[in-house]
Amino acid sequence: MRIGVAKEIKSDEYRVALTPAGALELIGRGHEVLIEASAGVGSAFEDAAYEAVGARIVDVDEVWERSELLLKVKEPIAPEYPRLRDGLVLFTYLHLAADEGLTRALVESGVTAVAYETVETDDRRLPLLAPMSEVAGRLSAQAGAYFLEKPLGGRGLLLGGVAGVAPGRVVVIGGGIVGYNAAVIALGLGAQVTILERSIDRMRHLEEILSGRVTLLMSSTLQIESSVADADVVIGAVLIPGALAPKLVTRDMIRGMKQGAVLCDVAIDQGGVAETSRPTTHSDPVYFVDGVTHYCVANMPGAVPVTSTKALTNATLPYVEAIAQHGLAEAVARDRSLARGVNVVDGRITYAAVAEAHDLDFVPLEDVLPLSPV
Ligand SMILES: NC(=O)c1ccc[n+]([C@@H]2O[C@H](COP(=O)([O-])OP(=O)(O)OC[C@H]3O[C@@H](n4cnc5c(N)ncnc54)[C@H](O)[C@@H]3O)[C@@H](O)[C@H]2O)c1
Repeated sequence: MRIGVAKEIKSDEYRVALTPAGALELIGRGHEVLIEASAGVGSAFEDAAYEAVGARIVDVDEVWERSELLLKVKEPIAPEYPRLRDGLVLFTYLHLAADEGLTRALVESGVTAVAYETVETDDRRLPLLAPMSEVAGRLSAQAGAYFLEKPLGGRGLLLGGVAGVAPGRVVVIGGGIVGYNAAVIALGLGAQVTILERSIDRMRHLEEILSGRVTLLMSSTLQIESSVADADVVIGAVLIPGALAPKLVTRDMIRGMKQGAVLCDVAIDQGGVAETSRPTTHSDPVYFVDGVTHYCVANMPGAVPVTSTKALTNATLPYVEAIAQHGLAEAVARDRSLARGVNVVDGRITYAAVAEAHDLDFVPLEDVLPLSPV
């Protein structure tokens, strides 16, 4: 198969959809790899690194026109819509339920589009979202420690303390992938860590994997209120699939926090866990409400593209290999997880929630692609 990798043109996006190591794997299996010039530069992969493994560097027109399977990181943006075409398979983050313009552009173009974020295993894990949650979780603990520094408006507290001086307290609300990874780094920095969770099973698991080094508490309004009042850093890491994040931290709770404490609201991409949260960017990451620093960057992994690109492509490559080896129809017939990623086929919407969100027609995937192994 001829596999292309487009350069991201969305502002502040430095990730790339394939590393030279991934390109080598594909080329080794007999596929042709086209890389748009300088696509990897933001992630520290020069064109020469791709050429060295046998990929061909091409211009933007060639990568879009000649690829059979096109890999990207972010959804196509308006200037890219005219490049969408019949016969192309696009594999990238899409988030179509939130983007009617893109959904219509995909449908009208006749492209087939597979969304990273809806690839879902039978036990309901989202393997192509998880790596970005790992990155964001780890980064949130670092951001919390950093913005506690006095010159940045923080309390002036060293999160890990020193011998004879108590460490700071980190309260993580939501103990999923973001929450676990935030806790790991906060512990590593020497903080006292509390995780508030709603699932008892998840708490049992966290107790085991964190060897009892964190305090695990049932999440409730009262508990959140008292934990947040005591915290130096609060990390918002709740997810209710398919819904906006619940506003668990009220304006009053923010008022009750210590002056110079930090709220890292990682769940901001779902609206955030605090009533006072609004999205910020890497170029202007924080603002202050009632003396509490709010860090609410909506695309946290974008700050560390070298790590994020590798983490993302480690997870996407097996699916890319499957599509390349078998073609999309057979690959989805062999793997239900990948089948759940298919959002649009030849102009028909095959993902119910996307069709519903925009009041467009839905066609079950099995009506357009054979879903039993061929
Ligand atoms: N800002 C960014 O750059 C960025 C990057 C990655 C992920 N995220 C966001 O981070 C959030 C967390 O993602 P995740 O992958 O960790 O999800 P996850 O599903 O792995 O974890 C969410 C956890 O929240 C728990 N939870 C639900 N309701 C709760 C409540 N009321 N109190 C306490 N816990 C509760 C769940 O039991 C679950 O364990 C999501 O909103 C995700 O979109 C943001």
